[in-house]
Amino acid sequence: MVKFSSKYICQQCGYESLRWLGKCPGCDSWNSLVETVIEVAKAGKTAKAGKVSELVKLTDIKTSSTSRLSTGISEFDRVLGGGIVSGSVVLLAGEPGIGKSTLLLQLAANVSGWVMGYESGSGNGDRENKKNIPITHPRPITNNSISSQIIYISGEESPSQIKLRAERLGIKDANLLFLNETDVDVIIETLKKWDVRSGKLDNEIRSGKTESQDVSLHSPASNIPLQTSSLVIVDSIQTLSTSDLNGTPGSIGQVRECASRLLNFAKKEGIPVFFVGHVNKEGAIAGPMVLSHLVDTVLMFEGERFQMMRILRSFKNRFGPTDEVGIFSMEEAGLVEVTNPSSLFLAERSEKTPGSIVTALMEGTRSLLVEVQALVTTTQLPIPRRVGNGIDNNRLQLLTAVLTRHAGLSLGNMDIFVNIAGGIKISEPAADLAICLAIASAYLDKAVNSKICAIGEVGLLGEIRNVPQSEKRLKEAQRLGYDLAITAKEAKTLREAIKLASSG
Ligand code: TYD
Ligand code: MG
Repeated sequence: MVKFSSKYICQQCGYESLRWLGKCPGCDSWNSLVETVIEVAKAGKTAKAGKVSELVKLTDIKTSSTSRLSTGISEFDRVLGGGIVSGSVVLLAGEPGIGKSTLLLQLAANVSGWVMGYESGSGNGDRENKKNIPITHPRPITNNSISSQIIYISGEESPSQIKLRAERLGIKDANLLFLNETDVDVIIETLKKWDVRSGKLDNEIRSGKTESQDVSLHSPASNIPLQTSSLVIVDSIQTLSTSDLNGTPGSIGQVRECASRLLNFAKKEGIPVFFVGHVNKEGAIAGPMVLSHLVDTVLMFEGERFQMMRILRSFKNRFGPTDEVGIFSMEEAGLVEVTNPSSLFLAERSEKTPGSIVTALMEGTRSLLVEVQALVTTTQLPIPRRVGNGIDNNRLQLLTAVLTRHAGLSLGNMDIFVNIAGGIKISEPAADLAICLAIASAYLDKAVNSKICAIGEVGLLGEIRNVPQSEKRLKEAQRLGYDLAITAKEAKTLREAIKLASSG
């Protein structure tokens, strides 16, 4: 028997203590001691003595593409890099209430091969025409989906609460198993009893009908065919705990230890595991971010709580790209995929009002058109206000200064408000020009030609600079009927750009 005990270890300097201390005596840092499980080897036994591991030549390592299980949600598959890899561990992080449980429940229903009662004629062929399509769309029931086994472990909600949600999502008949448990060791024991290799597929493996799957570095057990569609979902990692540690559930020590035990299970059994992790408003405090180096993939689920749009972003991915995003909309009956995001963002645009202009952003490898709105009013305060919603306030201050100095707008006694319609957050400088032109349009009270799309970075000297991937952005703009572009090619300076925009 391996014995466990715990110690408090400083995360900064490695100082060890048997009890918790607020300040580390070793390096004087505060709150840096984290409870950690220590394995105590049996006395008199030098555990690993004489044991040798095999060395493998790079040229001998077989590389075949990793087998993947489709989630049936194309936006989700895109972010994962083509589907779920067997034995991979995915952390889905996001603020509470953003829709993580909803997304994973819909995903689980989908993977289980459940088919939604769907009006005929509105299947996948409609993707291009319809704005949004429900996540759970019809899929033919195949042998694969019949043998699927999905376990949804919830420490947060009771099974009846989940059932209510499933009813709301219209997936109450899905073939899912639930486990209401928070002790990670009990969970793992239960999961081990639940044999994924049971049933029809097992015979196929034995009779050699199923080809053995590719070997991948990170999923040692990937010879278990993925056709079993087995999947474990843990909602959330912060509710789990192990009795080997004294800390409360959600403390760094507990979160890390529980995650690493589940991770070992996933790798050994070749079953993909999804963790839900809550992030708070301030960002990454302790919680799930301590896991980011442990897990294979970290997905962030973002969006404004009171707006419909949700973005699934991959923050780290051992099996795929990190620059892809999936776009969803939270609607009455759950999340739906947004296949044509630009038209969603521009749907409510009023073209004739001063202070509005369209720009093209890059979200992953896709271009996205959004509307930038500005409102400029005479201030009542000694220091005029610059308020940005969806853009960085410092950037707004800077652009206002450039507009004042190099474009001759006297904004010194004006309050300026800038908003990105649709709740998206802009972080790339490619939107600078659009922000400046929206402010100028609002200030001059002159509407910009509704066919204009402005793309460019604005420098401190009032010059307009080229941005990466402008071709892709312009193509998307043209696709949606914005044929007049203002970029670094059309205008060298901000003054010229304002003239161009207001002449239309
Ligand atoms: P939830 O998935 O519980 O969030 P999380 O697990 O990230 O904490 O989603 C909660 C929010 O989603 C809640 O405010 C209501 C909203 N919602 C819908 O708008 N439509 C739906 O069909 C469902 C199930 C939830
Ligand atoms: Mg939840």
